[in-house]
Amino acid sequence: MNSFVYRDGYLFAEEVSLATIADRFGTPCYVYSRSMIEDRWHAFDEAFGARDHRLCYSVKANSNLAVLNVLSRLGSGFGIVSGGELERVLRAGGDASRVVFSGVGKSDAEMRQGLQAGIDCFNIESADELSRLNDIAADTGVQAPIALRINPDIDPNTHPYISTGLKQNKFGIPIEIAGDLYARAQSMPNITINGVACHIGSQLTEMAPFVDTLDRLLMLVDALRGNGVELKNLDLGGGLGIPYRDEQPPTPQDYVATLMDKLDKSSSKELRIIIEPGRALVGEAGLLLTRVEYVKHGEIKNFAVMDAGVNDFIRPALYDAWHEILPVSKRGKGATHTYDVVGPVCESSDFLGRERELSVAKGDVLAIKCAGAYGACMTSRYNTRPLAVEVMVDKDKTHLIRRRETIDEMLATESILPG
Ligand code: LLP
Repeated sequence: MNSFVYRDGYLFAEEVSLATIADRFGTPCYVYSRSMIEDRWHAFDEAFGARDHRLCYSVKANSNLAVLNVLSRLGSGFGIVSGGELERVLRAGGDASRVVFSGVGKSDAEMRQGLQAGIDCFNIESADELSRLNDIAADTGVQAPIALRINPDIDPNTHPYISTGLKQNKFGIPIEIAGDLYARAQSMPNITINGVACHIGSQLTEMAPFVDTLDRLLMLVDALRGNGVELKNLDLGGGLGIPYRDEQPPTPQDYVATLMDKLDKSSSKELRIIIEPGRALVGEAGLLLTRVEYVKHGEIKNFAVMDAGVNDFIRPALYDAWHEILPVSKRGKGATHTYDVVGPVCESSDFLGRERELSVAKGDVLAIKCAGAYGACMTSRYNTRPLAVEVMVDKDKTHLIRRRETIDEMLATESILPG
């Protein structure tokens, strides 16, 4: 299901024209479709059938409170990587007992916060982290539920910046030493072993790396059982990709079915499966609206200078990511030219798309597609530009879910020297 379709030459989000949204709320503006997010969540959820499972939406993909609230109303769990994300989940109505906490650098304060909130699991990324958590749990007077996040040394065949399951990556515990660390965990008085976890990378477009990872984890689970370590949960992380251009990633249904097929043939069928999808839940459900400020025709290049820049959307600059760019109105368009679609920021990496065939004039609004994941949450105020606004469309209703900040708000935490 795609909520962003043209009607009579105008691009719509569900039942609302994006041109109207741009006029009403201004640009740059992220727009999300509630029904598309819900649809994706149900697609994953239903694919598991009667099997014991939990979807833990990876908050980092889009951490707006309204997005988290929509998912928590569905009963979603959450995957977090900071105390800030935990606070967001709780304020959005999420249930701490459905939260898994990953990340290589959890601080004392974050561990305490997670323990006090009663999260479901700390996904442990090093031996030192395990000991530290045991100490802090003892201090807090509680048991800390853990899974070891395994680094299976598998190439996810994705952009190197978003590969996490290879030996050279900082993430996880090498699978070879996992057995010893589980044995140590078993002897720690304030640690309760809950399961095993992994996450090998993001924007994966084929099943093979997921399947190989599951194979290795199942072998580990068998070996652990042989040593008297019983696990409840098997957390397979996130990582399923979306079609930005011509990629053909597995659907959520195929992804779940393939993994569950493998699990059924193993001796670990009874494990509860956790997955932590981020991008596949929200990526296609959002786009970024931006208005043309200037059109510059040059000798060797034409530029469409937009009011959104690299600070509003960093994926093209950071990962050389390609996002489709569409006009919100196809009406009354003149001849097309090839444009680099750029922002107002003083960097040559400030582009949203390069070499695009477009017909543009000052004031036109363009939509950057598939910007629902790793868009708004990765923005900055570089060049002292306010953060983009965010809007959620729900059928014919439009909700402002992040208003534009004022210059006073932007400067409020800074101060000049005294005297
Ligand atoms: N679980 C863990 C432990 C993760 O580190 C991540 C993402 C996920 C789940 C969710 O992965 P997803 O299902 O969204 O692929 N900023 C980059 C993506 C970074 C992903 C980091 N970890 C981008 O814009 O492509």
